[in-house]
Amino acid sequence: MPDVPIQIIRTASDIRHGILAARHSGKRIGLVPTMGALHEGHLSLVRAAQKVCEFVAVTIFVNPAQFGPNEDFDKYPRTIDEDLEALHELGVDVVFMPERDELYPKGFSTYVLPPAVADPLEGQYRPEHFRGVATIVLKLFNLLPADVAFFGQKDFQQCQVIRHMAEDLNVPTEIQVCPIIREPDGLAMSSRNRYLSPEDRVRAVALSQALDEAVRQVQGGTIESSAVAERMRDILLKAGVNKIDYAVVVDADTLGAIDQIDRPAVALIAVRLGSTRLIDNALLNAE
Ligand code: PAJ
Repeated sequence: MPDVPIQIIRTASDIRHGILAARHSGKRIGLVPTMGALHEGHLSLVRAAQKVCEFVAVTIFVNPAQFGPNEDFDKYPRTIDEDLEALHELGVDVVFMPERDELYPKGFSTYVLPPAVADPLEGQYRPEHFRGVATIVLKLFNLLPADVAFFGQKDFQQCQVIRHMAEDLNVPTEIQVCPIIREPDGLAMSSRNRYLSPEDRVRAVALSQALDEAVRQVQGGTIESSAVAERMRDILLKAGVNKIDYAVVVDADTLGAIDQIDRPAVALIAVRLGSTRLIDNALLNAE
């Protein structure tokens, strides 16, 4: 573990100056935005950043703008001491951890209208969610002008929203998407998994099983997206996962519906188990 204490910054002006100073010293800057409650999925992004950047900044901020009125903002896990310990152990250069008012002061009223790719799927179930994500991520890009920013494929639609936003709004930061980190039984790691009851934790494995089967079907030559989607739904229902928001196969870039899997496609699942909402996905015909 590094001897120097981890540098924690709480104000917008300090983080901007800190990042610009590191840039001027010639370092390649990596940015890893998070909402804390860190697990191996988050830490894998930090390691990916450290591989290609000499200075890595992690942000921890539970962004109120991306939670709906009936969502879990108040209940969202906050484990700041453990988070800082894990980041210190990895040798992260700086952690930006602002208070809510620092980023959303009184009178704040400007939001990013997210790209079209935000409209389907999560957009239908969480109407203002991607407006909040696009807004905070653009704010972070401005406050921490990084060379590369790292995001997890776990939140596939979020990655596409950020990619399209960055392209449309000429954000100079490069976006790198990192693979999904899973528990040994296949469940995608998520800060919210801790809220699953023991029974639901067992059922939750059906998401990755359904996605594995989708990948197998496509490798085996199935090309109708509806056949793949129906099989995923069967697997979920058989496992007792019956509150399915969606289990679909769509175009991997636009997330639009496709009849045939004849282009880069992704299988996406969102379900509710008790009061916990889980999402997962798999690319179907990755090179
Ligand atoms: P959060 O849910 O904390 O996730 C932070 C980053 O970790 C995201 O890029 C997410 O995709 C990635 N991540 C989460 N679980 C992962 C897993 N199992 N494997 C790989 N990566 C994983 O996503 C957010 O925060 C917020 O929306 C944010 C982008 C920080 C904006 O507020």
